[in-house]
Amino acid sequence: MAIQRVGVIGAGTMGNGIAHVFARSGFQVVLCDVEQRFLDRGLDTIGKNLDREVAKSKITAEQKAAAWTRITPVLDRAQLSGCDLVVEAATEKFAIKTEIFRDLDRICRPDVILASNTSSISITKLAAVTQRPGLVIGMHFFNPVPVMKLVEIIRGLATKQETYDAVRDLAVKLEKTPVEVNDAPGFVSNRVLMPLLNEAMFTVMEGVATPQAVDDVFKLGMAHPMGPLALADFIGLDVCLDIMRVLHDGLGDPKYRPCPLLIKMVDAGWLGKKSGRGFYTYS
Ligand code: 3HC
Repeated sequence: MAIQRVGVIGAGTMGNGIAHVFARSGFQVVLCDVEQRFLDRGLDTIGKNLDREVAKSKITAEQKAAAWTRITPVLDRAQLSGCDLVVEAATEKFAIKTEIFRDLDRICRPDVILASNTSSISITKLAAVTQRPGLVIGMHFFNPVPVMKLVEIIRGLATKQETYDAVRDLAVKLEKTPVEVNDAPGFVSNRVLMPLLNEAMFTVMEGVATPQAVDDVFKLGMAHPMGPLALADFIGLDVCLDIMRVLHDGLGDPKYRPCPLLIKMVDAGWLGKKSGRGFYTYS
C-alpha cells in the first residue's frame, strides 16, 4: 500500500521539522500534539523555515503554499486513524512513548507502520507493547530536520524486512540518506556523539577551558560546524541528559556517567537555546 498520509506525534523541534519535510515532499501530514499552544508554536516554526527556504530559492512560493496546505494540526490522537504511517516524536521519556505506542496500535489500521524518532530508547521495547512488533521501527531524524541529510533507521529485534524497506524508500523520497543500524542504546549517532558532548562538559566543569575555548578547538581544529557545547545547547541539555542516562543504564559502563555540571544545569532549568540559557545565553 502506498504511503500518502503521514501522522506526526509531537510538534516540538523534531516533530515540526519532520512534518515540514514530509509536507515539502508531497505527503499529507496530520500533526498531533496535546495542547493548542504547542501546535501553534510548531506551525509558526514550520512557516518561518519554509519562508527561509523560499528566500534561499530552495523552494518556490507556490511550493511553500502547497506544503503548508498539506499540514492538518489536530489535538485528538484518534484523528490519526486515516494515516498510512505514523512517526512519533514526543518527549524522550519511556513511559510517554509506550503510552503513545499502545494508543496508536489501537487507533491505526493493522497494516500501518509505527515509527519512532526516539534518539536512544529501545525500538524493541516500544515494539513489544504493540500487537504489531514487525511493523515498529526507528526513524531517527537530525536537527535541523529540513537541513540534515541523515535518517538513522533502526531495526528492532522483531522489525520485518518489508517494514525496513518501506521506511528506507520513504527516507529517499524525503531526499534524505538512510543509514541502517540495529537496536542498541543510543544507536550509533548518540552513542558516539553524546559522550563527546558529555566529556566537553567535564572539561568546563574541571576548569580546563571555557565553553568558548572548547568549542573553538572543535570548530577550528576538527572542522565541526558547531562546537560540542553550542551543539549541546542546540539539542537541549535535558535531551542530552536523558540520552546519557539511557547509555549509562543500558550499557552499564561508568564511562557513560552524566557530567554533574549537566545534571546541575538541567536542575536549574538551563536547558540551552530553547530556555535562553545553557553554556551560552540566547536572546
Ligand atoms: N530549516 C530550514 N533551513 C535551515 C534551517 C531550518 N531550521 N536552519 C538552517 N537552515 C539553512 C539555512 O537557511 C542555510 O541555508 P544555505 O546553505 O542555503 O545558506 C543553511 O541551513 C545553513 O544555515 P545558516 O547559514 O543559518 O547557519 P550555519 O551555516 O551556521 O548552519 C547549522 C547552521 C545547519 C545548524 C550548522 O551549524 C550545523 O550543521 N550544525 C550541526 C548540527 C548538528 O550536528 N545536528 C545534529 C544534532 S544531533 C541530533 O539531532 C540527534 C538527536 O537525537 C539528539
